[in-house]
Amino acid sequence: MDADMSDQLDLTQASPARIYNDFLGGKSAFEIDRQAAQAVVRTAPDARRVAIENFLFAGRTGRWAAERLRALDPHHPAQLLDIGCGIVDDLPPDMPRVEDQVHAVDADAVVVGVDNDPVVLAHARGLRQPGYGGVLPGDATDLDAIFNSPALRDVVDVERPMAVILAAVLHFVAEPDRVINDLRNWLAPGSILAISHATTTKTAAARVNSMTRAYENATDRIFFRPEEEIRSLVDGWSLIEPPGLVDVADWGRPAGHDGHRGEKVRVVGLVAELPSSTPALFASS
Ligand SMILES: C[S@@+](CC[C@H](N)C(=O)[O-])C[C@H]1O[C@@H](n2cnc3c(N)ncnc32)[C@H](O)[C@@H]1O
Repeated sequence: MDADMSDQLDLTQASPARIYNDFLGGKSAFEIDRQAAQAVVRTAPDARRVAIENFLFAGRTGRWAAERLRALDPHHPAQLLDIGCGIVDDLPPDMPRVEDQVHAVDADAVVVGVDNDPVVLAHARGLRQPGYGGVLPGDATDLDAIFNSPALRDVVDVERPMAVILAAVLHFVAEPDRVINDLRNWLAPGSILAISHATTTKTAAARVNSMTRAYENATDRIFFRPEEEIRSLVDGWSLIEPPGLVDVADWGRPAGHDGHRGEKVRVVGLVAELPSSTPALFASS
């Protein structure tokens, strides 16, 4: 991060990006973020392990999507938009980032991160390198600004299919269905969407309530949602099944793997594809 960045930061509020960075073993959290992270862990002792599983889910889905896009269009590198990409430059070496996973299968793929947290953007300045699109400022609730941005259009052809990753982001958004509807209008058929989201389903209500309280004074509130509501975000898309909507630890992993499923707090994930034509809602008479 820039040396002078701390002068511009409001350190009276924890930020989800820095709390999550602390969970992943990064070094970007401030005292207020560490306190918020500890409050979450007191409520949900396995929160750090679930965060790591979520991070690995994002990478696996990115890799899967890059392979799929490249197979469908061998002449063009895959393009991926990682919205709410988080702080990724200071993680332990055994934590493969989305772009690492993607470039393992498509060295020419373009991966563009987007985030609305100034600390994420400050950290990302050093990450511009060939084949990597960098990180742009943007908010998931204003996709028009993201998709119209000349900086994005410099590196991504928005007319071609792409993958969009929204890992652990939509639970910080009050109206996620609006985000997905807007996204659908922007994406070319054949595009791929990966979502992960904290769920009330099989998470004890007392835990949901105390985790929700732990984020109340942060820059973004957290909204746990039932699995049906998360699955319904991709109504009209082709849900990739198996595995469908599952614990993030289980997506893209063989049965019997040793990943950690949330015991105290669950985060679930899915991948869906935008079909080439949208089925009519009502059959014509
Ligand atoms: C829990 S972190 C997840 C990081 C990364 N996607 C992952 O799964 O490893 C959530 C990230 O989403 C960002 N975020 C939250 N709300 C956002 C919004 N409305 N638009 C863009 N980014 C957002 C936060 O700043 C943070 O970096």
